[in-house]
Amino acid sequence: MAGPGDNTTPKGQNERHIPVLLEEVIAALQPATGQLIIDGTFGAGGYTRRILETGASVTAIDRDPSAIEAGRALERALAGRLTLVQGTFSTLDQVALLGGVPDGIVLDIGVSSMQIDEAERGFSFQKDGPLDMRMSSSGPSAADVVNRLKTGDLARIFNFLGEERHAGRIARMIEKRRASEPFTRTRDLANAIEALVGRNPKVPIHPATRVFQALRIFVNDELGELVRALHAAERVLQPGGRLVVVTFHSLEDRIVKRFFSDRSGTGGGSRHLPQLEQRLASFTPIGKGIVSPTAAEAERNPRARSAKLRAGIRTHNPPLAEDHSIYGLPNLPIFHETARS
Ligand SMILES: C[S@@+](CC[C@H](N)C(=O)[O-])C[C@H]1O[C@@H](n2cnc3c(N)ncnc32)[C@H](O)[C@@H]1O
Repeated sequence: MAGPGDNTTPKGQNERHIPVLLEEVIAALQPATGQLIIDGTFGAGGYTRRILETGASVTAIDRDPSAIEAGRALERALAGRLTLVQGTFSTLDQVALLGGVPDGIVLDIGVSSMQIDEAERGFSFQKDGPLDMRMSSSGPSAADVVNRLKTGDLARIFNFLGEERHAGRIARMIEKRRASEPFTRTRDLANAIEALVGRNPKVPIHPATRVFQALRIFVNDELGELVRALHAAERVLQPGGRLVVVTFHSLEDRIVKRFFSDRSGTGGGSRHLPQLEQRLASFTPIGKGIVSPTAAEAERNPRARSAKLRAGIRTHNPPLAEDHSIYGLPNLPIFHETARS
């Protein structure tokens, strides 16, 4: 019988995405025989395989149909110990209703190497591809956003989600150009941005990097997904259950940090984040602050460099009321409300 360490994934997909902070995730999650863990971001199954090796069972979610498809052989080989679900991790409490109450939940936020490497997915401008960027195959694509949102909304997306200092200029250039020729390809958009703002020899990244990042986060509602998933985890975990989150972006880490400090009463309090009475805390943080990759891991896997792990243990208290204002998220447009037809 195949084991979780066997290479049962077609096209060697599990070799292409190197799991980040893997042993640190396991140390925080402490999976064990007889437990059920939800892996909210299956990807190439790197975390799932390692969790299965501990004897725990896994329900794994991914919004990308090709990630789920690639994991089906492993699911069949493990007969009952692994269940794959195609969907978004913000619905993990509904997934848990079907699969059983989890002892732990892990989220590895962002895109996989497979998604970035495949030109047809449109995440990267290194290789030309359609301007898509959807992790699932439904909803508006990056081309819809670029060609249809109002200029002011585009500028706010580039500014907030990409911290792009030329956000307004780039949005105005897009508005002008799309009137005669809409953007449909990744390289075309990247070249147009480069032609507008030029290359700064002191800045090593391509001038379109931040706009592409902002579009990806917006198209997939990545920040909204994360906030909803944290609250779903709070609802579904039993006392002693563990929540482990790995992020790669400062906006995401800020959300996770504020969630745990708000829910544990360790934040010190502020006008926006009043101190919670600790006797009401719904989580106890694991460790102090973040866990980052070792120098050896960052050297081995450059993608790991910006990774941050935060984790907490569910207390016996009921879930606290949700107050999304603590995350400091801007009111970005909701595509269907603001898009021009
Ligand atoms: C960084 S990869 C996970 C890699 C995985 N931990 C491994 O070791 O192979 C992130 C995965 O999460 C998925 N994903 C991102 N946002 C999601 C969401 N809101 N709901 C479900 N899956 C999501 C992506 O499609 C991608 O496959």
